[in-house]
Amino acid sequence: MQATTAPPATATHDYSAAMRAWHWVNATLVSGQLLTILFQKVIVNAKGAVPEFQAAITKGGGTLTQQQGRAVAHVISERIWAWHIWMGVTLAAFWLFWTVMQALDPAGRRFGARLMAAARRYKLAAPAEHADARHALLAKLTYAVFYLAITLMVITGLGLIWADDVAFLGNIEHTVKEVHSATMYVIIGYIVLHVAGVVWVEITKDHGLISRMVSGAARAKTPHNS
Ligand code: HEM
Ligand code: HEM
Repeated sequence: MQATTAPPATATHDYSAAMRAWHWVNATLVSGQLLTILFQKVIVNAKGAVPEFQAAITKGGGTLTQQQGRAVAHVISERIWAWHIWMGVTLAAFWLFWTVMQALDPAGRRFGARLMAAARRYKLAAPAEHADARHALLAKLTYAVFYLAITLMVITGLGLIWADDVAFLGNIEHTVKEVHSATMYVIIGYIVLHVAGVVWVEITKDHGLISRMVSGAARAKTPHNS
């Protein structure tokens, strides 16, 4: 039967212990992945350091050809990629954990159900609650974008791992890499918006929001609590 009243805010804001554990492990792994890229492409940037390797060896009286320099850079890069790949595989395992958790969670706690509840609450909200309901719905929509992005990241990441072993994946490796890299910017954008958003809500409207994501303790009874 179609609901005619807006669902309570709690219907969109109910986190299980498994969900909270997933949130913080996932956040740590995603941050770790971004750090490996920061080291690979900016801080270490081994490929870009080849002329410096050559200059250092020349200073000591030796010589290092371009090819030898690239081989050294490759060794350093591979060490960083090894971290990226192992963290990526762990992230993929947590993605699977999230998917299974969604299937096992009571229907009302699943992300899809919470998104629908937020949409219904927005549609049926009284004028005084409209702004809060809109904000809650927008937040849920950003989560939907994140879940899509992380799914794409896991699929393309696994594709890159197997690109050397599966001919079909080898043929599309370049495109897969481009999709994988472009999705990173969606994830960075999400994190900036998300962290700024939750800190802002914590300070202005819903004190204890962040600690509830840690401890899962009873929710405050503020109207914004969604
Ligand atoms: C890489 C970093 C992070 C990622 C990828 C991430 C991801 C997510 C996702 C996907 C959700 C939605 C859960 C759901 O409703 O299904 C969420 C909720 C939440 N996150 Fe994060 N998060 C990150 C960092 C943080 C940080 C640093 C904080 C605290 C400062 C935080 C606090 C929260 C809170 C309080 C919620 C619940 C908000 C609400 O009920 O609307 N997150 N996060
Ligand atoms: C938030 C998560 C992630 C971010 C931000 C990220 C970012 C990136 C970026 C920017 C590259 C470089 C692509 C290029 O050189 O053009 C890359 C490469 C790669 N990523 Fe990820 N990635 C993430 C998750 C994953 C996951 C989940 C996996 C595996 C399941 C994975 C596996 C790989 C592999 C195998 C490569 C290629 C490494 C190589 O060239 O040897 N990544 N990643």
